[in-house]
Amino acid sequence: MTTYDIALIGFGGVNRTLAELIATRGGELRRDLGFGLRVVAITDLRLGSLVRGEGIDLEKALRLVPGAATFRDHGGSAEADNERIIRTCPADIICEATFTNPTDGEPAASHVRWALDSGKSVCTTNKGPVALHGAELKAMARQNGLHFEFEGAVMSGTPVLRFAKRLFPGLSLHGFEGILNGTSNYVLGRMEDGLSFDEAVREAQQRGYAEADPTADIDGYDVQLKVLILANELLGANLTLADVKREGISALTPGDLRQAGSEGRRWKLVGSARRNPDGTVTAQVAPAALPLDHGLAGVSGANNAVSFSTDLLGAVTVAGPGAGRMETAYALLSDIIAMHEARSRETANA
Ligand code: HSE
Repeated sequence: MTTYDIALIGFGGVNRTLAELIATRGGELRRDLGFGLRVVAITDLRLGSLVRGEGIDLEKALRLVPGAATFRDHGGSAEADNERIIRTCPADIICEATFTNPTDGEPAASHVRWALDSGKSVCTTNKGPVALHGAELKAMARQNGLHFEFEGAVMSGTPVLRFAKRLFPGLSLHGFEGILNGTSNYVLGRMEDGLSFDEAVREAQQRGYAEADPTADIDGYDVQLKVLILANELLGANLTLADVKREGISALTPGDLRQAGSEGRRWKLVGSARRNPDGTVTAQVAPAALPLDHGLAGVSGANNAVSFSTDLLGAVTVAGPGAGRMETAYALLSDIIAMHEARSRETANA
């Protein structure tokens, strides 16, 4: 049976949960999927400080990943160490889940490049490398006969990208509109319940939905990246970030939410894109007061949903969690499964 050696780059909630999944569900994975997983390296730039008191249990981590080769020391030339480990560790697959700056996609984009350059396939949960460097990284993977998967970049483990790519050959996709940020949706819902904006944001952070800097959620930057990924991946657009107009929810007041409620409407942060008659694609992020019978108005809590507009099926909607540690760790697992299936097909066709 095939066993894939994997490296966990970034040992925060997502990759720790993936390590737990591998440790606790390894038998089922082997039985159901026909392959095994072995963690051979872990890096985390914050590991030193976390070990010194922010909650990570290194002993437990080591127990979860017996045989893991590498824990880096805290401090020093952190990214140089990461590069060395990514390039030289004996992994087949790099699972990239670092805290990454969404405005330039770094350091995740470099992690992906180093992996692909040293013969390793990569899955990432980070949006930046896909949204901002997707064409380059996909070409690099193709040229090197490797895989670059990123299901978790949009709607965490809810398989929106893979679902849509499988569904849409054979019909025309006109566009989509979606609720793509769990934090802002949660915040709007809790403000409807009477919480203040700050209280609602704090709750979303405690539940692990929010980005490291929640303004990325609230001001629409997170959705902007996700709309860019969906538009480029599914509508064949060639947009850059500047092409996606962006407005967040920070100007909305409890009064606005009450007023909408009294009119049978509900405020949502909607990310959308549509193909124009001339073939160009227009994309945007903006709050909208949706009528209650709108398909996206009932999406509650931190859930996400995307409604695709198609010629043969009308509207097709995918709904599910859009954030969370387990949900995003599952996205990485689904990426590894997709790689395994692709490799099996490649071997069968060879
Ligand atoms: N912070 C994001 C959200 C999750 O709240 O939906 C990761 O994209």
